[in-house]
Amino acid sequence: MSLSVVILAAGKGTRMKSAKAKVLHELAGKPLLGHVIDVAKKLSPEKCCVVYGHGGEQLQQAFADDQQLTWIEQKPQLGTGHAVQQTLDSIEGSDAVLVLYGDVPLIRQPTLERLLQLAEKPETLALLTAKLEDPAGYGRIIRNDSGQVTAIVEEKDATAEQKAVNEINTGIMVLPGRKLREWLERINNSNAQGEYYLTDIIELAVKDGFKVLPLHPEVFEETMGVNSRQQLAELERFQQRQIAEQLMAQGVTIKDPSRFDLRGEIEVGRDIVIDVGVVLTGKIKIGDNVTIEPFCVIKDSEIAENASIHSHSVLEHCRIGKNSSIGPFARLRPDTQLAEDTKIGNFVEVKKSNIGSGSKVNHLSYIGDTEIGQNVNVGAGTITCNYDGANKHRTIIEDGAFIGSDTQLVAPVKVGRNSTIGAGSTVTKDTPEGGLTLSRAKQSHIDNWQRPVKKNKS
Ligand code: UD1
Ligand code: CA
Repeated sequence: MSLSVVILAAGKGTRMKSAKAKVLHELAGKPLLGHVIDVAKKLSPEKCCVVYGHGGEQLQQAFADDQQLTWIEQKPQLGTGHAVQQTLDSIEGSDAVLVLYGDVPLIRQPTLERLLQLAEKPETLALLTAKLEDPAGYGRIIRNDSGQVTAIVEEKDATAEQKAVNEINTGIMVLPGRKLREWLERINNSNAQGEYYLTDIIELAVKDGFKVLPLHPEVFEETMGVNSRQQLAELERFQQRQIAEQLMAQGVTIKDPSRFDLRGEIEVGRDIVIDVGVVLTGKIKIGDNVTIEPFCVIKDSEIAENASIHSHSVLEHCRIGKNSSIGPFARLRPDTQLAEDTKIGNFVEVKKSNIGSGSKVNHLSYIGDTEIGQNVNVGAGTITCNYDGANKHRTIIEDGAFIGSDTQLVAPVKVGRNSTIGAGSTVTKDTPEGGLTLSRAKQSHIDNWQRPVKKNKS
């Protein structure tokens, strides 16, 4: 069976009060429309059309890497039926046309597969419907005495009796491509909203002898739309809860699933503990027994087994070796690689640097553009002066070096193997292996020094 997907996304999204197209607002770190496109692609359609009305340039730019999408402008927006009509040239050869919505992001692949399966029978339409305690605002599903679906009536056009129906149209449906042009040409806009309703083709199809087969989603949230920032926040929490449940099922302890955020993809080992307020973004990989303390922000990083990330640390694009300890209050900037058994302490910033196994940078230091070997100890307040105002230069610190506190290493510079730098030194030349390097003003002393005394005010 050949399949096309039509994603409707031409609505203005007025209630978002945003300069950005509604479907570009993010849920779990991905644009709403991205979620819909991703699930659509999992169904391997021949065509995937996105109907847009506003911010077309913005939209196409956001998905510029995706060659499989057909972008179709709907101008003006005269209703959902009119929207699908714009795609006919692309889709009418398909056996099945699946209609999705750019602002209904959490629809799941298994639900859509079941819907497509229903529509495989000849002369059928498949319709995703739901029963709601409060159906207000939705189109109502009208059934005849034998329970067959015969029509959808929009709320604004419904009689009191029809409004009492609590089965609603989620909007998601599978239609026979070869009949669509004819049906869409037969609908009109003589209704309360003056729109061409896609839903009106249900009645036409039934009159033509087609059967409308309804299906309920697994969970209602799959079919929830985003019209406001409140609804966006609600769906975000729902989705985060789902992600947290999945991770817990895989053996991850999440201290409070309502204070967990993954905005991207994650690969996890076992017995990981993630405390409250941790935000994980992009591509994340975490090995067995890793602990992440409260309020860490980690982006596009890999953390090997048994590492501990102490509270309030910020990591971006780094690799942390096993048994390492980071923070609290550490900042690891892009292209930082730590080998195993390393230690980065509080108020340490590391950027574009490799740190060898067993090495420690424990307090208040800046390490940038640096190669640090194994078992190096970097004292408190050490700074690699990597920038001369025009260019960046590298610092090399070889195995076993000991850098005294408050040292400035003016790059390019190399600290030789096992060499020791005395505290407070400014190192501008390479230091030889093994020795002590010191650049410090000699200490002087005055006996019985009289401190200044405060003058009397009179
Ligand atoms: C629609 C359904 C209703 C269903 C509800 C589910 C129709 C006539 N009604 O109503 O039965 O219960 O969704 O949420 O289909 N859009 C376009 N072009 C247009 C109009 C809309 O692309 O000209 C897009 C919107 O961007 C939106 C979707 O279609 O993503 C639904 O449009 P909306 O106006 O929200 O329809 P509802 O009145 O909610
Ligand atoms: Ca809607």
